[in-house]
Amino acid sequence: MSTPNWSNLTFSYSKTNTILRAVYKDGAWSEVESLTDDNLKLSAFAGCLHYAIECFEGLKAFRGKDGKVRIFRPEENAKRLQRSAAYLGIEAPSVEMFVDMCKRVVKENIDFLPPYEVTGASMYIRPTLIGSNPQLGVQSSKEATFLMLCAPVGAYVGGALDAVDVVIARNYDRAAPNGSGSYKVGGNYACSLYSLNMAHKLGYKAVLYLDPRTRVHVDEFNSSNFFGIKGNTYVTPESPSILPSITNKSLETVARHLGMEVERRPVPVEELATFEEVGECGTAVVITPVHKLVDKPTLESEEETVYTYGDGKCGPKSLKLYNYIVSIQKGEIEDPFGWITFVE
Ligand code: PLP
Ligand code: COI
Repeated sequence: MSTPNWSNLTFSYSKTNTILRAVYKDGAWSEVESLTDDNLKLSAFAGCLHYAIECFEGLKAFRGKDGKVRIFRPEENAKRLQRSAAYLGIEAPSVEMFVDMCKRVVKENIDFLPPYEVTGASMYIRPTLIGSNPQLGVQSSKEATFLMLCAPVGAYVGGALDAVDVVIARNYDRAAPNGSGSYKVGGNYACSLYSLNMAHKLGYKAVLYLDPRTRVHVDEFNSSNFFGIKGNTYVTPESPSILPSITNKSLETVARHLGMEVERRPVPVEELATFEEVGECGTAVVITPVHKLVDKPTLESEEETVYTYGDGKCGPKSLKLYNYIVSIQKGEIEDPFGWITFVE
């Protein structure tokens, strides 16, 4: 297989050497197998295909300045997968099994780990858990297949730190009150596609959803959390319907470490006018600064209120947070928080 073109990486599928698979059946996990073919043989009656009995994770591995390979906070992803699996009523791997498989998939695909020098590039790891036994009734699957996949990636949209325009969907939700919004289940993403496709047609890179109960507060984007910066304060929404982002939690810690105030609380829509910087945060997007945030009564309407942040470049506070977290991930500074797992 040829080496990827490192300077042209996007956030997209590419074939690597191997994927890993383990199957939970009759009360036990199988040995982990390494497969060179990423096409699965699966019953057409598998629960994941009919009732979206599926959850997944996303995390990254980096080649450090010292040549060492680092994975960012894999235990946190392992625990979040367990929480999603419990919601779906299926078996999840232990934290140890999850972390071991992360390390192994990186090792087996080390030729696809971008070099340290390539800005914004990393190896994206995609742990995926599916209900895999044949079934017809709506019930949690008895058997589960756990896959550990990876691919070299660049920035989620455009180049690293390119600012984007986003739109508020007042007439669409990604989650229901008391629904699945805080779990990383595939169904949440399917549910956001209609409004996301419409937003893309209108020229926006992402949709910002409001809290589905009252539509008074900001929730999150399709595939990232929201943050705003006001003076020396990092503000991010508290809401029961958003995914607990590991990046966001890490940014809160970094912000405090760098002497900023942190507020996690409901964020009313009107407050959008008062932020100096706004961004998306998450594993795939890292920090993606928002330039224009457009609020429409409905996505289909012509009417709009536009909030503009900065001049199209990443604001200074967001940049400082981005640089700090990326420096830990790439081994340029000490990791004061114990967030790194080395792949030996
Ligand atoms: N919110 C949603 C809906 C996501 O899909 C993601 C991506 O994982 C995030 C937030 C960010 O979470 P994390 O920082 O753990 O990747
Ligand atoms: C991630 O940031 O890891 C995600 O899972 C987002 C993905 C849906 C693109």
